[in-house]
Amino acid sequence: MVPTKSRLSDSWRRRFVALGIKVVEVPLVPPSTSLLKAMVSERRDLEKQGLLEVLQPLSYGGAFAKVHAWDQLGYEKVLLLDGDVLVKGDLSGLLKQRPVSASKDLADAFNYGVVVLAPDAAIHGDLVNLLTNATEEDLRRYNRRKANAVGLCDQTLVAGRLAESQKINFLEDMRKSSRQNPAKWLMSTEYNLVVSYRAKERCDLPGERKRVDKARIIHFANNWLNFETLAKDRDSPGRIDSPRCYKAAFRYWHDVYHHALNLTDRRGATAEPAYAPLDFEADDGLATPEEVQAVFLDFQSRSKSFDKGVPEQEL
Ligand SMILES: *[C@@H]1O[C@H](CO)[C@@H](O)[C@H](O)[C@H]1NC(C)=O
Ligand SMILES: *[C@@H]1O[C@H](CO)[C@@H](O)[C@H](O)[C@H]1NC(C)=O
Repeated sequence: MVPTKSRLSDSWRRRFVALGIKVVEVPLVPPSTSLLKAMVSERRDLEKQGLLEVLQPLSYGGAFAKVHAWDQLGYEKVLLLDGDVLVKGDLSGLLKQRPVSASKDLADAFNYGVVVLAPDAAIHGDLVNLLTNATEEDLRRYNRRKANAVGLCDQTLVAGRLAESQKINFLEDMRKSSRQNPAKWLMSTEYNLVVSYRAKERCDLPGERKRVDKARIIHFANNWLNFETLAKDRDSPGRIDSPRCYKAAFRYWHDVYHHALNLTDRRGATAEPAYAPLDFEADDGLATPEEVQAVFLDFQSRSKSFDKGVPEQEL
């Protein structure tokens, strides 16, 4: 779904079409003044903490296109995936889930990055209205973050609103302890393994690597996935805080990306992957502490050339 007036070039449009991906133009959903104000103030908080460049170098404006998954475009069921996910397994099991299915979220009513939904005109209209007209009262109602906690976005409002009228079918957490105590769910589901920005601590847990292996979708939520460097550099950390667990995942992302580009260049041909499968025996994807440090320093120097994002006054 491409918001009108977006910068998708014709060559990218042609590539999507060559891969059998339908490109749908959707109307822009301008955020309400209150929502915009809240997001701008959050960017200011991040800047004060010196984290803006790393966590949110670009402002969030365009993300609202996701709401159009509820629009009636001729589909019975929709599996909505964020752009910052890595799919590494068969997802047909997800389509068997009943709508609305999603994973838990630490701050919002549910995580809006992987959602099974049934399009519905009334819900679509209501959500567009909510995003466009959200008042400060709406923000207070749906934003359950503590003061200074970041992460407020369209998901906060949309998930909060949906949870009021829909029964959410939560995808099962991979941790047994979490299933026994649902209040402690950490979004470790097979279909939405959320890598929060505490990924480094989680990497030290022995169970985490097993979950990464088993997950069909890894979701690099809450943080900036550096697509630019990932596309160019197979060994790019992809994200500042998660090199240890996710080195192999980032390489996989790079390989899938280039494989897809390769396919678009050889339209119609049945192509073998242009990459060798990862050899998990020889390289389990874990970086050594020295590599982690090198990656950190490398990331710092690369991040200096990041796009600084849309200046606030242009929003
Ligand atoms: C926002 O609210 C106004 C006033 O109630 C309404 O006319 C308008 O249709 C709403 N916007 C959307 C996108 O629903
Ligand atoms: C695409 O993949 C084929 C087959 O693996 C390979 O021979 C070719 O060099 C690749 N082309 C590009 C542009 O990477």
